[in-house]
Amino acid sequence: MVCWWLAWVVLVSGARAFCPRGCSCDDSGPSLRCVGVGINVVPTLVNPGLRSLNLAHNSISSVSHTLVYFAQLEELDFSHNLLASLGSRNFQKQVKLRELRLAHNNLSSLSVEALLGLTSLSVLDLSHNAISDLPPDVLMNAPDLKVLLLAHNKLHTLFQHTFRGPSSLHVLDLCDNYFRHVPTAAVEELRALKTLQLCRNRLTQLESNALCLPSLQALSLETNNIDYVADASFSCLQRLTKLNLNDNLLREVPSAALVSLVLLESLHLSRNKIRSLEGGAFRGLGRLTTLEVSRCPLLSLLHPAALAECFNLRELTLSHNPLVKHIPPGFLSSLPRLRSLDLRANGLRSFPSSEVSLRSRVSLDLRDNPMVCNCSLQWLAEELGAANRSIQAPDLQCAAPDKLRGVYLSR
Ligand SMILES: *[C@@H]1O[C@H](CO)[C@@H](O)[C@H](O)[C@H]1NC(C)=O
Ligand SMILES: *[C@@H]1O[C@H](CO)[C@@H](O)[C@H](O)[C@H]1NC(C)=O
Ligand SMILES: *[C@@H]1O[C@H](CO)[C@@H](O)[C@H](O)[C@H]1NC(C)=O
Repeated sequence: MVCWWLAWVVLVSGARAFCPRGCSCDDSGPSLRCVGVGINVVPTLVNPGLRSLNLAHNSISSVSHTLVYFAQLEELDFSHNLLASLGSRNFQKQVKLRELRLAHNNLSSLSVEALLGLTSLSVLDLSHNAISDLPPDVLMNAPDLKVLLLAHNKLHTLFQHTFRGPSSLHVLDLCDNYFRHVPTAAVEELRALKTLQLCRNRLTQLESNALCLPSLQALSLETNNIDYVADASFSCLQRLTKLNLNDNLLREVPSAALVSLVLLESLHLSRNKIRSLEGGAFRGLGRLTTLEVSRCPLLSLLHPAALAECFNLRELTLSHNPLVKHIPPGFLSSLPRLRSLDLRANGLRSFPSSEVSLRSRVSLDLRDNPMVCNCSLQWLAEELGAANRSIQAPDLQCAAPDKLRGVYLSR
């Protein structure tokens, strides 16, 4: 310590603080950026008043005994290094640190005292590591944490009190892990959580009350193997506005579970094994503005009353469902606010005139459907050719009859 202080006094008595080779130093921050310069230890002979230290893309394998010199740090970036452990109590001096970036290292676990001292920490990025377990109470030392990124690790279970401590955590990313079950008990403590990402795991079912998070607004369950959603799965998610269930094994719209999501605005159900949209499939979803059910290779039946209660719907995407061959009369007529209707690449041969309100200025995508340009479609041709048309449907081509094949109804 003494030697180090001497070195410092000598250095600052020059014009400016020492700046390691290849690094950039900004004395006004003060900050130091040593990105991709091939260092394998934390440089310590630098300005101890640094507020921001970026050491990304190097070969640093240890943080032991090096961070004590930097008590003013607010941002610290160790992304893309070779850290296999954070050790214990190495961040004790970083009481001002707000952002700690540790993505793309080789961490496999965290000791319960790893984060000791980080009383101001707001963002912790641990994504792209090899973390397979986290001890209970590991976050007790980071009571101010708001964002915790754990995507792309090897987690499959979590202890009940893993996330105890940060009472205002509002973003938790657990995508790309090995969860077979929703870690219900662990996340339940996160009463302030607004965004939960569980995409690309191995979930197969959603049990009743699998997630009881009174503040949750956005939930992604994309790319799992979910084939069962219990009726009460979402019954304590009353503030949820966004739900993504894309790329699962659902055989039907989980209507009974969705009905509790009274504030839901956006729902994604693409890439599932859904065969039909039944009458009342989206009942109770009067706030829904965005609905996407695309790339469902088995979807063939649209019930005329499927969207009956979605009177706020603005954006409807039902594309790339090759077995959807017609839009039943009434299917779209309860949607006065519809602005965007994407029906691209279905099996549609026609489009009924009564379906879209001509007052509403709808943009309609009917490309890549086998449209038959006969008298039943004449209304659309006329509408698209009108000076003040209310429907935009660019690049709409006829597939039949033979003499009109390839002809554009619109450009
Ligand atoms: C990561 O850690 C494991 C042991 O936990 C080790 O076998 C592996 O070589 C490490 N990888 C790198 C790139 O250091
Ligand atoms: C036009 O073609 C569609 C699709 O094949 C068909 O359902 C409809 O009855 C036809 N209309 C007329 C007037 O022939
Ligand atoms: C424009 O459209 C409205 C109804 O959509 C119609 O009443 C009006 O006559 C049209 N004006 C012109 C110039 O085509």
